[in-house]
Amino acid sequence: MSKYLVTGGAGYIGGVCVEEMLKKGDEVVILDNLSVGYKENIHQKASFYQGSVGDSKLLDKIFAEHEISAVLHFAAFALVGESVKEPAKYFQNNLAQGLNLLDGMTRNGVKKFIFSSTCATYGIPERSPMDETTPQKPINPYGESKLMMEKAVKWYQRAYDLKYTIFRYFNACGATTQSMEQHVPETHLIPLVFDAATGKRENITIFGTDYKTPDGTCIRDYIHVLDLIDAHIRAIEYMENNPANEFNLGTGIGLSVKQIIEAVEKITGKTVPVVLGERREGDPSELVAKAGKANKELGWIPQHSDIEDVIKSVWEATKNPPKKAS
Ligand code: UFG
Repeated sequence: MSKYLVTGGAGYIGGVCVEEMLKKGDEVVILDNLSVGYKENIHQKASFYQGSVGDSKLLDKIFAEHEISAVLHFAAFALVGESVKEPAKYFQNNLAQGLNLLDGMTRNGVKKFIFSSTCATYGIPERSPMDETTPQKPINPYGESKLMMEKAVKWYQRAYDLKYTIFRYFNACGATTQSMEQHVPETHLIPLVFDAATGKRENITIFGTDYKTPDGTCIRDYIHVLDLIDAHIRAIEYMENNPANEFNLGTGIGLSVKQIIEAVEKITGKTVPVVLGERREGDPSELVAKAGKANKELGWIPQHSDIEDVIKSVWEATKNPPKKAS
């Protein structure tokens, strides 16, 4: 049995990580400032500290009170549009606080770090699907803040003997019996389509119908949050002998906005009212992962990310909302 520190463990993806680790019999310490996460989402079996990942004193206290084998760093702001308007918020939280976390680990001899990064570090890719060697040229402060953190982690590995795994998520989605995706305000496609299907909002606006894609709408690679977490759990062991890793996490299958709406209509049996709108600023037409490296090195094969399974999981959670939804 090992003990892990999960930052952002009161949020959507971090919350599922906590659930899965506890199910495996591991111990979990959550560090979350509850700015985006929810108190109700904190698992009762986890130890919880409310605070910033950049609070050096708090970090020293946590590392003194718990023997932590690895830190899984989910806590971050992750809205592209907001990051363009408020870059300071993103560089302060995602980068500056993140560096303090790395320093806290170094000071306290904690040697394994798993970092939640994003396909937004690639910017507008020259080719798709994208493997890990695709040039990283972010086009917004969110992607830039994650890339800067990636770079720091790599230098820390060389100098301070830190073992790291960087995961670049594509479009995280799906629900478990314990957690579902709910942001305030909601900006993500799948929850918004469900809101439109169930009458919680009047309609869903498709952002752009003139992209150079088969149906004119943007293509993304949707990956179930349980599959994301499975990769993290595999990485913990893999890092023992492989100190420096970076992986894309996606299915390799691209789906358009229209295909997502059709899938929701099919699974729910409801009609989704649609408005055809303008393009959203900063949206690349297609973001699809080439995830062969994670398949090969981690033995990671997504099990829950068939789009119908994803939509079914969200439909179940919509009908029976988890008590501790995030
Ligand atoms: N979309 C709509 N209408 C909406 C909301 C979204 O048409 O009301 C479209 C978007 O234009 C996009 C797709 O649905 O084509 C998915 O949009 P999301 O907002 O759900 O997710 P993004 O693709 O914007 O986000 C992903 C990752 C981020 C990453 C970003 C980089 O989740 O981490 O790509 O562009 F930063």
